Amino acid sequence: MRVTINQIKEMKQKGEKITILTAYDYTTAKIIDEVGIPLILVGDSLGMVVLGYESTIPVTIEEMLHHTRAVVRGTKQAMVIGDMPFMTYHISVSDALHNAARFIQEAGAQAVKLEGGVNVADTVSRIVECGIPVMGHIGLTPQSIHQFGGFKVQGRTPEAAVRLVKDAQALEEAGAFAIVLETVPAPLATLITQKVNIPTIGIGAGVGCDGQVQVINDILGSFTDFVPKHAKQYAKLIDIMSSAITEYYTEVKAGSFPTDKQSFSMDETILAELKG
Ligand code: KIV
Repeated sequence: MRVTINQIKEMKQKGEKITILTAYDYTTAKIIDEVGIPLILVGDSLGMVVLGYESTIPVTIEEMLHHTRAVVRGTKQAMVIGDMPFMTYHISVSDALHNAARFIQEAGAQAVKLEGGVNVADTVSRIVECGIPVMGHIGLTPQSIHQFGGFKVQGRTPEAAVRLVKDAQALEEAGAFAIVLETVPAPLATLITQKVNIPTIGIGAGVGCDGQVQVINDILGSFTDFVPKHAKQYAKLIDIMSSAITEYYTEVKAGSFPTDKQSFSMDETILAELKG
C-alpha cells in the first residue's frame, strides 16, 4: 500500500518531518523507495539535470509522463507526484484537468504538482474535485524565471511576503494537500507553516517547514553545472563516476578488459569443427 495524502497531512499534525526527493528513472526510484522515503517527486527539474536544458521551460508533458512511468515502476510504497510542466495548466481549466489526468491515468502517479498561488487556485480546486491530489509550489517557481529576472530569493519585501502568505492560504483553501516553498527567507517560511494546516515542504526555505525536498542529483553531487546554495552534497558521485569511467576506458584500450571472468566459453569440439 502506498503512502496516502492523509498520512502526509497527519505527519504535520504529529510534528513528524516529511522527506521528499526527486527521481526521474526506475533504478533511482527503487533505491529511494527501499530507503523508505514517503514521497517521490518527478520534478520538471528533469529538464536541467537529466535532459540538459537551460531551464525547466522546454520540458514537455510527454517527457514528464515517460519519466513518471519509470519512477512508478520502480516504487512500491512511495507516493509518486508528477510535476505539471510549463503551460500545461494555464491555458484553460479543461486543459489542466486533461493534463493532470494523464499523470494519473497514463503514468500511474498518485498526485500532481503545479506552480503558483492565488492565480492557480481555481484550477487546483477543479483538479482536486476530480479526485486528483495536488501539491502547490510557491516562492521561486522556476517556470516563471523570466518574470522574476533570475533565480532570486522571493518574499523579501513586505508586499511580496504578504503575497506569499495569501498564495499559501489560497492553495490550502483550494484543497492542495501540501505546498512547496522554494527559496524564501526562513522566517517567512516558518510563519507560512504556522498559518496553514497543510504541510509546507521547503527547498531553500529553512528548517521551520514541515518537510524538505531536494533534487537527487544535487544531494548526490552528480550534477555540477551549478550547485544551489540550498543543496548539501551528501556524496560526490561525479568523482566516483569519473574515476570508474576512466578506469574502464584505460583497461579497454590496454586490452585488460574483459578477462576470462567476464567472458563465456564454448565446447572445444564445436570450436574445432568450426575451425575445420
Ligand atoms: O522540479 C523540481 O524538482 C521541483 C522541486 C525542486 C521542488 O519543483
